[in-house]
Amino acid sequence: MTIFNEKIDRLKTSSVKWELTKEIFGEADLWPMWVADMDFKPPQAVIDAIKNRVDHGVFGYTFVPPSAAGALVDWLLKRHQWKVNPSWLLYCSGVVQAISAAIQSFTEEGDRVLLQSPVYTPFFEMIKKNNRIVVNSPLTLVNEKYEIDFASFEESLQQGCKLFLLCSPHNPSGRVWTRDELLKIGELCLKYNCLILSDEIHSDIIYKDFKHIPIASLSSDLSERVITLMAPSKTFNLAGLQASAAMIKNEGLRNQFHETLSRQGVFSLNTFGMIGMEAAYKEGEAWLKELIDYLQENKEFVLNFLKEHLPEISCVKSEGTYLLWLDCRKLNVTDDELRQLLIEKGKLALEPGTKYGPGGEGFVRMNIACPREDVKEGLARLKRALE
Ligand SMILES: Cc1ncc(COP(=O)(O)O)c(C=O)c1O
Repeated sequence: MTIFNEKIDRLKTSSVKWELTKEIFGEADLWPMWVADMDFKPPQAVIDAIKNRVDHGVFGYTFVPPSAAGALVDWLLKRHQWKVNPSWLLYCSGVVQAISAAIQSFTEEGDRVLLQSPVYTPFFEMIKKNNRIVVNSPLTLVNEKYEIDFASFEESLQQGCKLFLLCSPHNPSGRVWTRDELLKIGELCLKYNCLILSDEIHSDIIYKDFKHIPIASLSSDLSERVITLMAPSKTFNLAGLQASAAMIKNEGLRNQFHETLSRQGVFSLNTFGMIGMEAAYKEGEAWLKELIDYLQENKEFVLNFLKEHLPEISCVKSEGTYLLWLDCRKLNVTDDELRQLLIEKGKLALEPGTKYGPGGEGFVRMNIACPREDVKEGLARLKRALE
């Protein structure tokens, strides 16, 4: 039997997903399929490594040891065929913190920063909170699959964008960008001298027949113009440990990023973050393989359920991530009505599509990283909400 069927009570652990629905959705005790973490334990090796460190009992200042950098670098080579030198690495607590630090490092107030909606909400927020201007080149949905409108993308770059925030793989849709798409993005960004910040936090959960390619790995020109962000948090469910890494080959850019972190007083990782990260990358591969198989089955379960019981809802083709982007536009209800039905009738918390910017209207995002029985419960509530 798979370990992923085990139901773990997360109440009274200060779980955002399970304990903050009142604050976020206005109602307590909603069935939570919203924020992007999993209801699974990480690989046992991660738990053991942290327990060993706890048993040591002294928690003074720590530095990130070369063995942790080595574990990440080996992972990137093995999993993504990307050769990274440990000297390119800089650490941040979270990827969102790194996004903000990159915006501060590589742009000035009033500069334009490009993104592609619908996209992960903090992309917009970090640009705006840093007093930069959002330039949006929306993705286009063709046959239930997001595509890049390269004419619009080029027009946006012509407005003088300094930085492009790429979400690869794409949250909320789970699109895994192809080599050709990434090459075209790279070619245009190089042409218009726009740096690329590639958020690859979802890069390890990729379904059969698809392949994640780090955009920085595509050419030596690109490797000099890309800042890549990765973390073990989505892959191994370690978001609470707050550990992520930026990979920056270009020394000048790396120094600029380092300077921003120093200014913020960021000097190391949380001790448990770095221990969890090292153990996960060293020993988590077999666990991850099993996880992806389980998620693939969850996904198929949802797709079959929708086909049978809620045929008006379609799911955008998901190639990676544990997030499903459900197209509810055929229900002919407004976003407010949909939200109300889900919360009041279904007692179900899904992320409203409007959070992801233009193009998100009429969609909801469902997190399927939970035991199958919990997916079934969520789907029953979805059906009840819409009956
Ligand atoms: C694309 C993307 N980037 C960053 C994050 C969050 O990263 P962190 O928790 O490390 O700040 C998420 C979480 O869902 C995400 O989807």
